[in-house]
Amino acid sequence: MSGLRFLTAGESHGQCLTAIVEGIPAGLSVDIEAINGDLARRQQGYGRGGRMKIETDKAEVTSGIRFGETMGDPITLRIVNKDWQNWTDRMSVFGSEYGDKVTAVRPGHADLTGVLKYNRDDARDILERASARETAARVAVGGLCKEFLAACGIQVVSHVVKIGGVAVDEARINREEIGSGSSELNCYDAVAEEAMKQRIQEAMAQGDTLGGVFEVIVRGAPLGLGSHIQWDQRLDGKLAAAMMAIQAIKGVEIGAGFQCGELPGSEIHDEMFLSQEGHVYRKTNRAGGLEGGMTNGEEIVVRACMKPIPTLMKPLHSVDIAQDKEVLACKERSDVCAVSAASVVGEAMTAIVMAQAVLDKFGGDAMCDLLANMESYRARVQG
Ligand SMILES: Cc1cc2nc3c(=O)[nH]c(=O)nc-3n(C[C@H](O)[C@H](O)[C@H](O)COP(=O)(O)O)c2cc1C
Repeated sequence: MSGLRFLTAGESHGQCLTAIVEGIPAGLSVDIEAINGDLARRQQGYGRGGRMKIETDKAEVTSGIRFGETMGDPITLRIVNKDWQNWTDRMSVFGSEYGDKVTAVRPGHADLTGVLKYNRDDARDILERASARETAARVAVGGLCKEFLAACGIQVVSHVVKIGGVAVDEARINREEIGSGSSELNCYDAVAEEAMKQRIQEAMAQGDTLGGVFEVIVRGAPLGLGSHIQWDQRLDGKLAAAMMAIQAIKGVEIGAGFQCGELPGSEIHDEMFLSQEGHVYRKTNRAGGLEGGMTNGEEIVVRACMKPIPTLMKPLHSVDIAQDKEVLACKERSDVCAVSAASVVGEAMTAIVMAQAVLDKFGGDAMCDLLANMESYRARVQG
């Protein structure tokens, strides 16, 4: 198990979301505004629902940081749900039951399986926690990990590459621009972005929803994070698991991904060359920065596919669990498309796994020890 771990708590319309992060070394300077910047990016995106207009997510630190620096203690991050004010009766902690129960369960959501498994008769008891509102807490944790990684010379960025079948043209993307935050949809092909917005508008008009694909890129990771020694030390496996653990993510690719099943080895594997200084280099990165479950010094490239949002304004056929009859599924205030928000969550989950991998390899209770270990290792492997 990695020395860096975290838990989140909180319901979508509860008082707040909380995360406890343990394992960040002492001596890391933390800029809360950088974390809040990521929280704001998670809220953005064409096609988001009304909830995001109510919230202005800000993380509050209630433990683990003193005078702007970590002390090695568990760090507690808290994000208040402004919408709680409108839900104090329906989400009361100790009050009496109030409001209609949610019984017309939604296909594609946790509602039905959750009520059966946890023996509840109101799907709100399930959907409040299954909701991706929880990802705000993960983005705060990821923001902290991004600051830790930045101190180690590692940067994590993301961009949207497909929405509802509209794909970017790689040739139109300036990869340096990715991560600049200059796009509403977190998409750096302006032509595709316009077409994506159009597609979202159409889906909205039809009471429908859309999914898509985003890509996370890690720059500056030293080679040798992760290991080939055991299945559960492989970094490709950890990254894929973290990405799949985001609500609505149904597929993950690393590098050329599923294309590997179509092309011959001569068109997939990245050939190696020697520079004049005697350094090994590659001209391509179809491995996506990972070979043998270890980083190989190239950019890490992970893509994730998000399914369309399961709450439709033109609801799907379903059942009412209280009345045992067929009905149309319930409607909760909802996003039409949240791929750009999911890309920020993907960035956070990747940052958490990368921070764990760095700590596993270089250890250290104090940042100065970790950075010294890392520097001598980088000098030895020149990566
Ligand atoms: C950033 C983000 C925002 C989401 N917004 C919504 C939403 O507004 N309405 C909804 O029904 N599902 C939304 N989802 C998806 C559901 O949370 C998810 O489909 C549900 O919890 C069931 O989990 P599963 O799709 O992984 O099986 C969102 C997911 C993410 C990552």
